[in-house]
Amino acid sequence: MGIEDASMRNGRALSDQWADSVVVRPRTTEQHITVHKRLVLGFAISILTLIIVTAIAITLSVSFERCAADSSGALAANSTSNSKWKQSRDGNISQRDSEDGQQPWRHLRLPATLRPRHYDLRLSVYMENFTFSGEVNIEFECVHSTKLIVLHTDRLEVEKVLVYSDSKKAGAMRIQRRFHYQPKQVYVIALHREMKPLRTYKINITFHAHIEHELLGFFRSSYVLNGERRFLAVTQFSPTHARKAFPCFDEPIYKATFRVSLKHESSYQSLSNMPVEASTSDEDGWVTNHFSRTPRMSTYYLAWAVCNFTFREAVTDSGVVKLSFSVDTTYFVMSLMAFYEIVLGI
Ligand SMILES: *[C@@H]1O[C@H](CO)[C@@H](O)[C@H](O)[C@H]1NC(C)=O
Ligand SMILES: *[C@@H]1O[C@H](CO)[C@@H](O)[C@H](O)[C@H]1NC(C)=O
Ligand SMILES: *[C@@H]1O[C@H](CO)[C@@H](O)[C@H](O)[C@H]1NC(C)=O
Ligand SMILES: *[C@@H]1O[C@H](CO)[C@@H](O)[C@H](O)[C@H]1NC(C)=O
Ligand SMILES: *[C@@H]1O[C@H](CO)[C@@H](O)[C@H](O)[C@H]1NC(C)=O
Repeated sequence: MGIEDASMRNGRALSDQWADSVVVRPRTTEQHITVHKRLVLGFAISILTLIIVTAIAITLSVSFERCAADSSGALAANSTSNSKWKQSRDGNISQRDSEDGQQPWRHLRLPATLRPRHYDLRLSVYMENFTFSGEVNIEFECVHSTKLIVLHTDRLEVEKVLVYSDSKKAGAMRIQRRFHYQPKQVYVIALHREMKPLRTYKINITFHAHIEHELLGFFRSSYVLNGERRFLAVTQFSPTHARKAFPCFDEPIYKATFRVSLKHESSYQSLSNMPVEASTSDEDGWVTNHFSRTPRMSTYYLAWAVCNFTFREAVTDSGVVKLSFSVDTTYFVMSLMAFYEIVLGI
């Protein structure tokens, strides 16, 4: 109380004092900044980038969840008019509903019958014609028995599909039919036999697609260095664009581990969430980088880039120091995002 009163009465004197300290303080930090200017600047940029990227990621994930919840709520409110959908939309999503409830691929959400555990993703990136081809092997667990595998794809040309059972009688399972359902961006695989709860299965899909000139999915961008136009291909999966790069269960609740490998011309480098575990090069000038397995996370946290930021440039040309720095920042931001994913359960 006494202190508060004094400060009220001597408000002027105090604010003058405060003003003095404000004037004095920058002088010392200014010296500090000139000494470590680059370091501080670099650090500030990386922190700023981190905050912005994390904020965007959190906002998008929150709004995605809310949006999904809202729409299923709206459906539930409207379901009274349609008795066939009523039971499943009242929150009782039993396997019978998703099986006989007919055409679960028409629903907003994926049927909760399967749960992915691990993705093995191999991509070949052709920068000369901006296309890529890939092969994904998804290990998943069956939660409720079903004959259907419904997962997301968008703009992908699916070639081959193989489904394996991990049980004693291992081997490929016969596929009755498979098709893409564009309105919900899903790919549906109907099997002859039912998959059983608590068993694990594997699906192996080969596909190819274009690297679009658009800031979604796996896209291309360019920059000019020494008067030369250079291209790079990077990903933007948040909130629902991972399905444009590979077939996946593209909803935040389906968390899994990922192992990515990228094949590209050796004049390019590649980055992903995790460090390179092994790198193999062909005699014809192609390199394959195998990245370590990620922590368990949602599909939209996955990221990779194919670019031509070389380390030699970083040493010779001071203007290019930022390039190699930005590569480090990418690693930094990505690993921190993976960290937030685990610790905060975002
Ligand atoms: C409710 O259902 C009717 C037809 O069954 C449809 O025309 C209407 O758009 C739906 N409303 C909402 C909010 O989904
Ligand atoms: C869902 O329906 C089944 C039978 O159809 C019932 O046994 C079960 O209790 C229901 N679950 C919920 C959460 O309503
Ligand atoms: C792009 O180039 C690769 C490698 O040269 C080739 O295999 C692929 O068919 C090409 N794609 C298109 C759409 O031309
Ligand atoms: C897909 O299946 C083939 C055949 O079993 C296998 O050689 C290949 O490694 C699988 N792909 C992935 C990404 O695991
Ligand atoms: C990558 O960078 C090197 C060194 O600057 C350059 O010689 C090469 O042409 C670049 N490659 C591509 C595909 O841009």
